Amino acid sequence: MEGALTARDRVGIQDFVLLDETTEAAFISNLKKRFSKDLIYTYIGTLLVSVNPYKELDIYNKKQMDIYMGVNFFELPPHIYALSDNAYHTMLTEFNNHFILISGESGAGKTEASKKILQYYAVSCPSTNLLNTVRDKMLMSNPVLEAFGNAKTLKNDNSSRFGKYMDIQFNSQGDAVGGHILNYLLEKSRVVHQNHGERNFHIFYQLVEGGSDDLLRQLGLERNCQHYNYLTQGECATVPSINDKNDWKSVKNALQIIDFDEMITNHLFGVVASVLHLGNVQFDTDSKGRAILDKNTELHWVSNLLDVDAHSLQEGLTFRKIEAKMDQVLSPFTVDHAIYARDALAKAIYGQTFTWLVNRINDSMENKDSAQKTVIGLLDIYGFEVFYVNSFEQFCINYCNEKLQQLFIQLTLKSEQEEYEAEGIEWEPVQFFNNKIICDLVEERHRGIISILDEECLRPGDATDLTFLERLEEKMGNHPHFVTHKLADKLTRKTLERGDFRLLHYAGEVTYCVVGFLDKNNDLLYRNIKDLMCQSKNAIVRECFATMETENKRRPETVATQFKCSLLKLTEMLMAKEAWYIRCLKSNESKKPGQFDDALIRHQVKYLGLMEHLRVRRAGFAYRRKYEDFLKRYKPLCPATWPHWRGVPADGVEALAQHLGYLPNEYKMGRTKIFIRHPRTLYATEDAFEKCKHDLATRLQAKYKGYRAKGEFRKQKEAATKIETCWRGVQARKEKEKRAWAVKVIKKFIKGYMTRGQAKTTDNSEYLAFVRQSYLNRLRNNLPKTVLDKTTWLTPPPVLTETSEILRELHYRLMVRKYVRGITPQRKAQLQLKLVTSSIFKGKKESYPQSVPQPFLDTRISDQEINMRILQVIRNEQIKYSVPVIKYDRNGFKPRPRQLILTQTAAYLIEEAKIKQRVLYTSLKGISVSNLTDGIIVFHITCEDPKQKGDLVMQCDHLFEFLTKLSIIANKQNAISVVQGSIKIEIQAGKESAVDFSTGQEPMVYKAKNGHLMVVANRARTR
Ligand SMILES: Nc1ncnc2c1ncn2[C@@H]1O[C@H](COP(=O)(O)OP(=O)(O)OP(=O)(O)O)[C@@H](O)[C@H]1O
Ligand SMILES: [Mg+2]
Repeated sequence: MEGALTARDRVGIQDFVLLDETTEAAFISNLKKRFSKDLIYTYIGTLLVSVNPYKELDIYNKKQMDIYMGVNFFELPPHIYALSDNAYHTMLTEFNNHFILISGESGAGKTEASKKILQYYAVSCPSTNLLNTVRDKMLMSNPVLEAFGNAKTLKNDNSSRFGKYMDIQFNSQGDAVGGHILNYLLEKSRVVHQNHGERNFHIFYQLVEGGSDDLLRQLGLERNCQHYNYLTQGECATVPSINDKNDWKSVKNALQIIDFDEMITNHLFGVVASVLHLGNVQFDTDSKGRAILDKNTELHWVSNLLDVDAHSLQEGLTFRKIEAKMDQVLSPFTVDHAIYARDALAKAIYGQTFTWLVNRINDSMENKDSAQKTVIGLLDIYGFEVFYVNSFEQFCINYCNEKLQQLFIQLTLKSEQEEYEAEGIEWEPVQFFNNKIICDLVEERHRGIISILDEECLRPGDATDLTFLERLEEKMGNHPHFVTHKLADKLTRKTLERGDFRLLHYAGEVTYCVVGFLDKNNDLLYRNIKDLMCQSKNAIVRECFATMETENKRRPETVATQFKCSLLKLTEMLMAKEAWYIRCLKSNESKKPGQFDDALIRHQVKYLGLMEHLRVRRAGFAYRRKYEDFLKRYKPLCPATWPHWRGVPADGVEALAQHLGYLPNEYKMGRTKIFIRHPRTLYATEDAFEKCKHDLATRLQAKYKGYRAKGEFRKQKEAATKIETCWRGVQARKEKEKRAWAVKVIKKFIKGYMTRGQAKTTDNSEYLAFVRQSYLNRLRNNLPKTVLDKTTWLTPPPVLTETSEILRELHYRLMVRKYVRGITPQRKAQLQLKLVTSSIFKGKKESYPQSVPQPFLDTRISDQEINMRILQVIRNEQIKYSVPVIKYDRNGFKPRPRQLILTQTAAYLIEEAKIKQRVLYTSLKGISVSNLTDGIIVFHITCEDPKQKGDLVMQCDHLFEFLTKLSIIANKQNAISVVQGSIKIEIQAGKESAVDFSTGQEPMVYKAKNGHLMVVANRARTR
């Protein structure tokens, strides 16, 4: 209900007890609202109302079962599983017996409901291998009983034509350990007659359609339903919704599971086949109007299959044996009589076999363990039936419903009253209709309808259905619930035929036609046929008729009385159990999904007494709950009870009620429960709770989030610390290993170092290898880059001195090679010249270092710059080099710019077109230069001839280039001397002077006072 309160606006009301108005219109509108959303279940308190959806809903799977398992009835939306589970758990905790009464009209879904319950128990109850077989047998009893007891009717393609009560037995642990079935009033008339659009029991069609060729041959059957009179009266042997062939397989399989061996199965199908053959037995009239058999073939098959004497059978079907004193007289039948006897036999055989089948199934499901067990009974019984013409069957069925309604009233009122008493609340009489008066009308001894019917059946003389009606009129004349054509007032009389009587049942009026009442109640089978059947060698038939005999010998009971007794037994049995109710409603007549036929539903609501039920449930208080539960749900609504009520729960509830402003007549406080009279009081409370729930939820959410976040943070922190610790451990271990390794290596290194000079050991050879490698590595990175670099070579360790030297040589050679390979021929020539220069001047003349990078040119004066005449004169001597010079006169040292041309043989001093002096190389005895930075060159010339000019003093800017070329051309390397101080010169033969050198700020050349040529040179730049 609590679930219902929460969901009430969305899906209608889940519990009718909470309906504001208890009108039929409100009731139906709520049902319709829910049905439109595929919510087929609704409660009236603990009663479950179910509306047939005529379509598969996804609410019967294992997941759903799990949801409902062990959950409080009111917590979840209404479901058949909730009811099943509640019954089961109450049984377990209170260790008492229960039953679930499933009622509703044909096609409303009773059988489906009972199957769903059975499946729920099969899945949800604990089980063992042994129990699994019991469970399978219980489940498998269904297809067998449905094959033999169900048929297609206009209302339902799988209509149960018998009432069924099945006990499921549980041990104290809640295991399903056994089962027992009671069957009620099989509609035997169907065996011989079916209305248009209806079929005989399924098993006949299944056998003909599904049985193997061999089996059909053995049973003398043809695979054609049209061939059998008992199968064709409804003219609908095949139905789209039924697959007889498949069903046949299921039945065969089920029979095996419930321990039917081959022989007994053959006997069973023999009986079924015999009924079909019996239906084809035809009669003719002889000349005296007596019935005779038309053909013997079918009769022979019957006698064959039932294993009885064919002749006796024929006699039994055409003669009646009358016992007169000691004699037996055979009285022949008319054809009608014979047909009656044939049909009676068919019905008897089938009816008895059905009972035998139920007993057999019971044997197979029986639990022989004597330990105490509790049961849950499932009663799948026919609901109220009202047809256009209602006969004996409807009378029995409706009587049955009256009895069950009476049971319901007694049980509900009893439990209500007991609850009030237990709670110490004053009982307030409830206004509702008690149908005991109708039950009495039907069943009262000597005065009830059944008694009168029995009397008429047993009365010698010409009792007929009509005399029965007259007797009823006599006895019931003024009963408020009984009316006939004769007794009715004018207006009512118009609605009644003369052969009708009408009962005002609790659920409404039903008019019964008396025709056939006596026959059906007698259910006569002629003596000789009965005797014959007792002699049958078919085990089933013999057993059935033998029990029938022993029962009948005591006192033959009419059908109605048998039924009445069985109902009495049933109600007695049920009264001792706790009741649960399921009321099934049919949504429409055309078996269509999603259609809700208001009129049809209203009709059923009335006939099932649902409004009555609701009124009884609502009689006093609509809602009651244990104080603890009530407080638990609503305590947030009152500051005194929130968040905890420390006192007695009842006081807490009282405080809550006061706070909510309940008026004194709206509620009562029992011993353990609060009782609330009107749903609206509860709704107001629930609405307040809904509002408050949001606030609470937010607060809880915030708290919970905080709690979660804290937890998460703590966890993360712990994890971080753990990781840190582990990581540190790893690091420390690594460090330790590294250090140990380092110590080892260092030790080894030191030892190696110390013993490096000794004989080879592992330690020192490793050390030395390391030294070598490290030196070589270092050397590789620090090699001199140029040939000139002679200083960067790394000092080798002693072991590598030799190697280092070799490497060094190799490296320099390599560099030289690279260098040499890289230079051009011009450069080579240049360098060769420079080499000569170097050999002459290096380390001697101060300006030499500056000259090294200055490249030497081929000449300083091109041929074009030399006077043509000169060229002509010295044409024969090849010009090798020319350079401008300053020549100093011998007398007075006057500077004169001149060209100096070197040929193969001589040096020419030229002034324009004049050769001023020709110096043959042979006469050039020496060349002097100073050691300073000046460019003065002195040619010492052999001067034997006084005509010859003396030594030549020149100044040349390209001193090194000039002298180098000259030394090569004239082969004068050794003739060049670098002089410190002064150079003596011979001005003429025998006349000497000198050139003096000094250094100063400014370079100067002048004649000094001593008559010498004074040359002041720049001080050499130090690099
Ligand atoms: N809960 C359900 N879900 C889906 N279909 C259902 C349900 N209940 C009943 N039906 C459909 O309705 C048909 C009739 O149901 P069922 O045989 O249980 O009716 P019944 O009340 O036992 O009728 P009868 O009194 O004739 O035996 C089923 O064959 C099935 O097609
Ligand atoms: Mg049924």
